[in-house]
Amino acid sequence: MNKVLGIIFIAVAFAVGMYLGGGSSKPVITTSAGGASYGGGYDKNADADVNSGNKTTTALAERTANGKTHIVNPGESIMEAVKAATPGDTIQVMPGSYHETVYIDKDDIRIIGVIKEGKRATMDGQGKLNDAILYSGNNIVVQNMLITKYKGNAIMGQAGNNFEIRDNIIVDTGVYGIFPQLGKNGIVEGNVISGIEDAAIYVGMSDNIHVSRNEVFDSVAGIEIENSRHAIVENNYVHNNTGGILAFITPGLPIKTTFDVIIRDNFIVNNNTANFGAPGSTVAGIPAGTGILIMAADEVIVEDNIITGNKTAGIIITDHENAPNTTIDPEADSKPDKIMILNNLMMNNGYDTIDEAKALMLTEFKQGQPDILRVGTSRDSCIINRHRYVTVGVNDWAECSFTNTDAIDTYILDEPVPPREIKGSEKGKIAYLGICTGCHTYTGRMIGPPVQIIQALYMDNPRGLADYIANPVKKRDDYPEMPPQNYLDEETRLAVAEYMLSRTN
Ligand code: HEC
Repeated sequence: MNKVLGIIFIAVAFAVGMYLGGGSSKPVITTSAGGASYGGGYDKNADADVNSGNKTTTALAERTANGKTHIVNPGESIMEAVKAATPGDTIQVMPGSYHETVYIDKDDIRIIGVIKEGKRATMDGQGKLNDAILYSGNNIVVQNMLITKYKGNAIMGQAGNNFEIRDNIIVDTGVYGIFPQLGKNGIVEGNVISGIEDAAIYVGMSDNIHVSRNEVFDSVAGIEIENSRHAIVENNYVHNNTGGILAFITPGLPIKTTFDVIIRDNFIVNNNTANFGAPGSTVAGIPAGTGILIMAADEVIVEDNIITGNKTAGIIITDHENAPNTTIDPEADSKPDKIMILNNLMMNNGYDTIDEAKALMLTEFKQGQPDILRVGTSRDSCIINRHRYVTVGVNDWAECSFTNTDAIDTYILDEPVPPREIKGSEKGKIAYLGICTGCHTYTGRMIGPPVQIIQALYMDNPRGLADYIANPVKKRDDYPEMPPQNYLDEETRLAVAEYMLSRTN
């Protein structure tokens, strides 16, 4: 947090002049029953995916209607059933224990755990396996599973559209619980997720997403909307994490924006768990006790949440410049603009806040426990009923011109969107940034060895590198094993190898 400290003292000098006389007179009281609604930032008519004429709907309905059901019993393998399945099929997994990683690289596959008298189909990584379910197909459903003790991801999607991840229980599965990446038109609903080192639900580089009715707890980040657009996060119970709900831009990824995120009707309670994120990761910089964190994201609406007992602050809004563990990406706008805070119930937040917040409060002659803390620059933001909260840095925000988001039910589309076309030339870059950089950096040791070392080993041999990642063997005593990347198809493995070898930073 050192970085925050330095910058804040510079900010103080400006702020004192700005906020003098701010405290003030007659509060503007705004009811959200009635009044104008936020119009939303999504225009279906302007969406090339929706209007491409590449309609998959009929075909999907037909394929699913004619689909077969495969039953997997304990002692059998879910992966074998996926291999035997054709698009449109359903795989029913009977209660019992399964120790495996399942890759789904075809479309229209549904994996449904059968629950019998409370017993679930349980995927148990036994602390050894990296991932439980990885999909790259479209129209994938994963439902009613219990997933535990994996080291990497419970359910991760790579570029699959129209996904539905529902009603799963995920306990202690390493870095990410549910992690759809580069997906469009997807639902994450009714899951119970706990004990995750990074984000329990991590929506990355995705569009048109609905995250609702989940319970997430005992994790570093509860729900994370990252480099994604048109997302609604509603009716979730988010408690006892380090940070509750996050909307932000991670610098350096191929998709550079996060905007149009509605965070509403959530319970965001007691997110005070000491940060146990991997050192250096973005989430390792979250101060324990953060209810909602908005970093560099634009058009984020916070409405009708119950936000209580988060010891640092109920809502923190920051730019990249003031945030710990982030770099500046010249291609990404580092400022959180158009943040809109409507009515929320906030109580007992900020009771043990960080020194930086206290220092900022002094500049506004405020005392007490901060509900809302804004650091750095934020343009065109607004708030209603600001007198209800202890706030820092929002005195100069406008009154919002609307009071609710009633006009927007969902950003989920009536019809599935066609599969994402990733150009051959983009495949390597996206896989590298989305997967490899989680464990490898250019110069330094992270979970895996530095890219520079790898370049020295494989400089003229991208094929050899591609073969290694499909089937890694243990090479170094002082590193863990690298998980196999054989869920990437051969073309992508070669593309990512070439991309890794071409890096210069
Ligand atoms: C979950 C962490 C993780 C991810 C993700 C990961 N790696 Fe690794 N990687 C490792 C570790 C750990 C090692 C060291 C393994 C050893 O030496 O036994 C390693 C080693 C390597 C090596 C060295 C092989 C050799 O011959 O010495 C290459 C090449 C490599 N990774 C490429 C990649 C590529 C390409 C990606 C992305 C598609 C990737 N890795 C993703 C953890 C990871």
